[in-house]
Amino acid sequence: MSTNGHIPVLLEEVMNFMDIMREGVYVDCTIGLGGHAFEIVKRNPKALLIGFDIDETSLLKAKEKLKPYADRVELYLSDFRYLPDLKIDFSQTKGILLDLGISSFQLDSPERGFSFSKEGPLDMRMDLRNRTTAHRIINKYSEYKLAQIFHEYGELKQARRLAREIVSMRKSEKIETTVQLRRIAEHVCRWRPQKGKIHPAAKLFQAIRIEVNQELKSLSSFLERIFQKIPKKARITAISFHSLEDRIIKHTFSALAVPKNSHPEFKILTKKPLIPSEEEIAKNFRSRSAKLRAGEKI
Ligand SMILES: C[S@@+](CC[C@H](N)C(=O)[O-])C[C@H]1O[C@@H](n2cnc3c(N)ncnc32)[C@H](O)[C@@H]1O
Repeated sequence: MSTNGHIPVLLEEVMNFMDIMREGVYVDCTIGLGGHAFEIVKRNPKALLIGFDIDETSLLKAKEKLKPYADRVELYLSDFRYLPDLKIDFSQTKGILLDLGISSFQLDSPERGFSFSKEGPLDMRMDLRNRTTAHRIINKYSEYKLAQIFHEYGELKQARRLAREIVSMRKSEKIETTVQLRRIAEHVCRWRPQKGKIHPAAKLFQAIRIEVNQELKSLSSFLERIFQKIPKKARITAISFHSLEDRIIKHTFSALAVPKNSHPEFKILTKKPLIPSEEEIAKNFRSRSAKLRAGEKI
């Protein structure tokens, strides 16, 4: 189902795992263009929705989309990591949704610098109030630090060579654009397009984006803290788009599911992560790397 040309990933699976027909509060931590959120408030007239996004443009778009249900929607321009600190009544919470990473809208906006296939400035900030841009990382970080980021967040075999090349290139002239950076990746990794092979710039851009937005920093502690706040029977549903994030969710869920004083407190509802069907991938290529995990507080 497309909403404003935007297709929410694993939509029916999210609706099922969140068990959205219950009366109560649903929190969309990463509202984006409001695709999942819209379906929750549309399908369940007794659902109240709290939404977060750190990208102001996306939040405004979500606000517009959710206008017909504005009386049941509360939106915050904020990092979701602050949700557990909010002075709100969590007792009515029925579901927490995380659909991590960037949206197709952000990816498709060249001026945001997320896409290696479109010429744009090296920015990659989700939150434009953030002072660290991709430009700063690429032009200022030490060779050692760059290699570390490429290795850790991009799992790139050529991390050190890429870092060395970037540092050497920037000595003569600053690296300004996404395409310049893509060309460096293509050159260092000796890229030849081949069916089924991932472009090296995809991993490089992923690594830089994670560093710019500190994406992995507080995911695990967020899940643990929000788990403490929500009532029994509330569900947590998380969609990730790369293995680093999925690993964090998997391990945090497993830790939460360990019985405390022989009382289980969290039930994992997805033994294995759910992935999109071939049909969904054909309709929405961006969904191809999505993995959904869900659990319920018991
Ligand atoms: C994949 S999109 C969500 C799409 C949304 N589910 C929909 O159907 O329209 C991810 C969104 O999360 C936002 N985001 C990423 N990390 C965030 C964070 N830590 N706090 C708040 N929002 C975040 C991004 O700005 C982006 O808009």
